[in-house]
Amino acid sequence: MDTVRFSLLRILADGEVHSEERIARTLNLSRIEVDKLIGELETLGLRVLRRTGSGYRLEDRIDLYDANVLAERMKGMSPELHLEVLEECPSTNTVLAERARAGAAHGTVLVCEHQSAGRGRRGNVWVSAIGSSITFSVLWRFSRGAGTLAGLSLAIAVGAAKALERLGARNVQVKWPNDLFCGERKLGGILIETTGDAAGPSAAIVGIGINMRLGASASKRIGRPATDVVTNCAAAPSRTAVLVELLASIVSTLERFSREGFAPFRQAWLGRHAWQGRRVVLSQADRRVAEGEVVGVAEDGALELASEREIRRFHSGELSLSLELSCELSCEKPLE
Ligand code: BTN
Repeated sequence: MDTVRFSLLRILADGEVHSEERIARTLNLSRIEVDKLIGELETLGLRVLRRTGSGYRLEDRIDLYDANVLAERMKGMSPELHLEVLEECPSTNTVLAERARAGAAHGTVLVCEHQSAGRGRRGNVWVSAIGSSITFSVLWRFSRGAGTLAGLSLAIAVGAAKALERLGARNVQVKWPNDLFCGERKLGGILIETTGDAAGPSAAIVGIGINMRLGASASKRIGRPATDVVTNCAAAPSRTAVLVELLASIVSTLERFSREGFAPFRQAWLGRHAWQGRRVVLSQADRRVAEGEVVGVAEDGALELASEREIRRFHSGELSLSLELSCELSCEKPLE
């Protein structure tokens, strides 16, 4: 979305009626241009009601970040953070990776109001909707090698879960290696991309996406069971409040992880582990490589999986619940 479209969105965000004439004057546009921009907002999934003779209003108000509150709350946070809020970008991870290559500072944070081509793990698309998702990335530079960052995504998941709990979210769980769940539905995801030498130094782009308020169209596009912060909090916090709490927690997680690795986060991770003791299948590159019962995670973040003979450790892969159990129940032999 270019800046003028976003300026129009800011005017309409409160859900009140705004006259076309006044919008045109404020944005220095013709009425025809305003009408064209309204059409563009609609193609992005926003529902705009046209009131003949009076103007436009959004069917649902939109919760945009409050720059003043954000700036004020950032003052009390780590001096290492340099925050920038973009109106739109394809992917905060992609943009931050480009900036990192060009020498961006440790602690650079890119937040985006609307991410148009968000990336998930394993080449998946990360779906987000304007004003309804939280998407940001943090650049963190480490003196040690990229190979020692294996447990980082688990530590970040714990940091994000704690932040959401402080905001009142109930029953936030983590799923190996880096998903946030609530009641068997995905609440958020983490995409960590690392660069650097095995011996160090290294750098990580830590990308976080949290579903804030999923509408029907976003849920449909996600196509898998998903949930959002609003559904899981008794009193819905603002996006700004969620972003601030997440940033504070993620930064203190990164600081501690830099010094001590994953070990101090392990108990907190296990305490929130969605699939502890469940029977799962582990796949790597879409190939099923192991099946067993989840014992837990090791001090370096590796998944511990028990089969009949042994406990094996895995540093990468994708988990899904084993279908065997449900098959055992539904494929019982008929009574003779
Ligand atoms: C996953 O569960 O697959 C990880 C999703 C990570 C999404 C976030 S949103 C901010 C950052 N920018 C991206 O393009 N992806 C991450």
